[in-house]
Amino acid sequence: MPDHHSSILVTGAAGNLGREVVNRLRVRGAHVRSLVRHQTGPRLGAESVVGDLTDPILVREALVGIDTVFLIWPLLDSAPAHDLIAELAAAAPRVVYLSTTAIDDDAVRQTDPIIQVHADMEVLLRDAGLRPVVLRSDTLASNARGWAQQLRSGDVVSGPDMARTAVVDERDVADAAIAVLLAQTDQLTDEIHELMGPEVLSRAAQVAHLGAALRRSLRFEPLAVDLARSRMLADGRPEPLVEALIAASVRRPESNRITDHVERLIGRTAGTFAQWAIDHAAEFN
Ligand SMILES: NC(=O)c1ccc[n+]([C@@H]2O[C@H](COP(=O)([O-])OP(=O)(O)OC[C@H]3O[C@@H](n4cnc5c(N)ncnc54)[C@H](OP(=O)(O)O)[C@@H]3O)[C@@H](O)[C@H]2O)c1
Repeated sequence: MPDHHSSILVTGAAGNLGREVVNRLRVRGAHVRSLVRHQTGPRLGAESVVGDLTDPILVREALVGIDTVFLIWPLLDSAPAHDLIAELAAAAPRVVYLSTTAIDDDAVRQTDPIIQVHADMEVLLRDAGLRPVVLRSDTLASNARGWAQQLRSGDVVSGPDMARTAVVDERDVADAAIAVLLAQTDQLTDEIHELMGPEVLSRAAQVAHLGAALRRSLRFEPLAVDLARSRMLADGRPEPLVEALIAASVRRPESNRITDHVERLIGRTAGTFAQWAIDHAAEFN
């Protein structure tokens, strides 16, 4: 029996987090429409809309009959979001927006474009009168999937280093998102939900945890900025993304903050990266 009668549009539905959100909503019997860029990829259920979040016609069609939207904004600039937000404002669904814990609410400008775009999106959604529920996520554990290729050919993960943060399991973020998406209350709108894992971890510590799970002696090798930039460009990453990642690496401050907001929303403590590594070890072989 479905335990909920919402019709929920999930954006970024083929992504690391979006997939987890879609699967959970389907298990709970909610009516889910997935917005994906390409039809290929994992089976996402019967109903999907294929196209780009920046296409207002597609977004308008995707919103028909929808009362709740799980919104991500994977671009580095909020300017192309204006049409999307206008469509949302016209359709007026409940919006749950996936933002970042790296936002400094006291800063006029954020330290890098990745944080800035989320800060801008939060403002744009509020200014459009949407009263979004904002879930701010820490670094997702699933980002480690980006290391799989290097680990298939050696024991070293190299790349730009990043400030330590409370890396959070995307399955916990998905559970928190479900709790909010299916909630029958407006109260969640006025709180800041900062979804963090239970430990503050460096990249080196994450790689070491992966090594323990894989029973291999792995290490992280931080690259100097110029080398990191040229390697990422050579890998085919778009230049604006590379520059944003470099800025994040150089300017993002260390954070020792850990919240219990995951537990508040899902009723159990957040999982460790060590457990994530054990659960996903097969993906790295
Ligand atoms: N990863 C983190 O540590 C983190 C932390 C805080 C917040 N966030 C936010 O959470 C979002 C989801 O994270 P994730 O790790 O699940 O990302 P992900 O695995 O990269 O998934 C993002 C999804 O968005 C899709 N997408 C990209 N550009 C699009 C566009 N213009 N129109 C429609 N779909 C588009 C991608 O499609 P393709 O599959 O075709 O590429 C992909 O499936 C991020 O985009 C970010 O805004 C992430």
